Amino acid sequence: MSSAEQAQPATSTVRARKAVIPAAGLGTRFVPATKVVPKELLPVVDVPALEYIVAEAAAQGLADVLVITGRGKSAIEDHFDAAPQLEDALERKGDKHRLARIRRSTELARMHYTRQPEARGLGDAVSYAEAFVGNEPFAVLLGDDIIDERDVLLARMLDVQAEKGGIVVGLIEVSGAAISLYGSIKPAGEVIDGVIAVETLIEKPKPEEALSNLAVIGRYVLPPEIFDALRRTELGARGELELTDAMRTLGQDGVPVHGVVFSGRRYDTGDRQDYLRAVVRLACEHPELGADFSGWLREFVRTLE
Ligand code: UTP
Repeated sequence: MSSAEQAQPATSTVRARKAVIPAAGLGTRFVPATKVVPKELLPVVDVPALEYIVAEAAAQGLADVLVITGRGKSAIEDHFDAAPQLEDALERKGDKHRLARIRRSTELARMHYTRQPEARGLGDAVSYAEAFVGNEPFAVLLGDDIIDERDVLLARMLDVQAEKGGIVVGLIEVSGAAISLYGSIKPAGEVIDGVIAVETLIEKPKPEEALSNLAVIGRYVLPPEIFDALRRTELGARGELELTDAMRTLGQDGVPVHGVVFSGRRYDTGDRQDYLRAVVRLACEHPELGADFSGWLREFVRTLE
C-alpha cells in the first residue's frame, strides 16, 4: 500500500473534500406531499431544498457530492442532470435568466448517487458512502436541513476538523422538551469561540435524560473510521441504525469530538412548520418576488389581528 492509499487516522487533519447528503428517508412527517415527491425536492420558494444544500457544500469546495437516494427518489438525479427539452425551449424564447437558473443545478458540483435499499436510519444511509469516501474525512449534510447561506456554519466546522481532527458536529441551543427531537451532547468544557469539546452524545433523549440543551443538527464532519464504527453499532431504540450511536462509539475509542455552536438561520424543511417559515422568510427576501410578496403579507397579517 502506498502512503497515499493508507487510511488517514481518525485524528487526521486533512481538510474534507467530499460531501455526502442522505436523502433516502421516507418523509413521514410531510405526507401526503411526500408520498411521491421526495421531501428533499420540495420547493423553498422556487428552488428545491436539496439544491440549497448542494450549493452550500459546493461553496465550501466540496466538489464531489454523493446523494444517498432510495426507492421513489429518482427525480433527485433528474434535477441535477441537464434538461435538453426545457433548455431548448428557453433558448428559443431567449430567456437567458431562466436558462441560467435551470443550468445552475448541473454546474454546482460533480454529483454521484447510491441507493439505500431500505430507510433503516441515518447511520445506515451514511454507511453506503464508504466506497465514495475512501480514506478521507468527509462532510455530511442532511437533505432536509437548510442553513441560510448568509450565516456561517460548515466553513467553521471544516476548519475545526482540519485543526483538531476527529468528529465535528453542528449544534444549536434549544429550550425545554425540544431536545428530544435531536441528538443531545454532554459538553467536556465551555464554549470557546463557538467551539465546544464533546464528552459523549445520545440520540433523541427524553427531556429529563438530555445531556445539555445543545442539540445536534444536520451537519457533520466525520473521519472514515465512522464506517467501522457503524458496523459495530446495534440498532437503536427506534429500530434504526443511528449515526449518533456510531459517533459515540468513536468518541469512546478516543477520537476527539467537537461541536460548533450555530445561532444563525436554519430551516428543517422536513417539518411542516419550519418549511412554511422558510418559504415565507425567503420569499420576503427574494430579489424578484420579495417586494410584492412582503407587501401582500403585511396586509394579510392585518386581517389576522
Ligand atoms: P429524517 O429523520 O429527518 O428523515 O432524516 P425521514 O425519516 O425521512 O423523516 P420523517 O421523520 O419520516 O418525516 C434526516 C435526513 O436523513 C435522510 C432523510 O432523507 C433526511 O434527508 N435519511 C433518513 C436517509 O437517507 N435514510 C434513512 O433511513 C433515514
